[in-house]
Amino acid sequence: MNDYIIEFSNVKKYFQLSQGGLGKNRKIVKAVDDVSFKVRRGATFAVIGESGSGKSTMAKMLMKFEEVTEGKILVDGEDISKMKDKDTLKSYRRKVQIVHQDPTSSLNPRKTIKEIIEEPLIVHRMGNAAERLERVRELIQVVDLPVSFLDRYPHMLSGGQKQRVGIARAIALNSKLIVLDEPTSALDVSVQSKVIDLLKRIQKEFNLTYVFITHDLALVKNFADYVIIMQKGNLVEEGSTEELFNNPKQQYTRKLLKAIPVIGDDEQAFLDRIQLDEYTISM
Ligand SMILES: Nc1ncnc2c1ncn2[C@@H]1O[C@H](COP(=O)(O)OP(=O)(O)O)[C@@H](O)[C@H]1O
Ligand SMILES: [Mg+2]
Repeated sequence: MNDYIIEFSNVKKYFQLSQGGLGKNRKIVKAVDDVSFKVRRGATFAVIGESGSGKSTMAKMLMKFEEVTEGKILVDGEDISKMKDKDTLKSYRRKVQIVHQDPTSSLNPRKTIKEIIEEPLIVHRMGNAAERLERVRELIQVVDLPVSFLDRYPHMLSGGQKQRVGIARAIALNSKLIVLDEPTSALDVSVQSKVIDLLKRIQKEFNLTYVFITHDLALVKNFADYVIIMQKGNLVEEGSTEELFNNPKQQYTRKLLKAIPVIGDDEQAFLDRIQLDEYTISM
């Protein structure tokens, strides 16, 4: 088997804007501009960049929600732009899943948690009703939620709990490649680290490859193996997490690193105490 599960070769995605000029004067957004990289199987591969740098567009191309303008994306050595017929696409969708940024808008409010986690199993015709229920019960426990939550609706869950449901659904089909598009940026900091811990545990348990998209470099340090830095559609720097944190080559990367707050033990204890006080006051 190929060491690399994903290979981007000179990938471009240009959007033509409908407003703003006609013919030659039409405005073009170069969302992703000539980007190449490889993702090692089983790794956590972080894509870092400010808002608008092209991260979600890369995820959408990888998911086949958007076609590439130019270049090639190989997944398991196969050119995904060549996948056109319904069956090929369907089997590709079993292989790659995504966890979205905002769990509130990505979970259908009219469906129960059971129905939400079961949906991919139904779409891909996995098992009968009893076998699917068994699988759903197993999945909710994998993400550390009680089985009693299966009858609830998304609005009855906290942000972190909803994101756990999103993760359970993403692994329901045993997909080996999971795209995490800012999975914790809608969550409180204390909840963020718990979700990251869960993702780490699941990755080991099921041998997953993660493409972890974030604008938050602080989250990456103890999670990712390899990092690419995106700026305005261009890949400006890449390296192992250690290399990048210890020896950033680009001015831009240094700027991002400097923006990470450094918290010592005393300060952390102080902050914890303040939070506790605030909590007590608001009770
Ligand atoms: N469907 C689209 N049509 C036009 N422009 C788009 C579309 N999707 C994304 N863009 C533009 O492409 C750039 C990259 O967007 P995106 O990939 O969402 O960035 P990020 O996820 O890093 O915030 C932005 O300038 C955005 O406005
Ligand atoms: Mg985005």
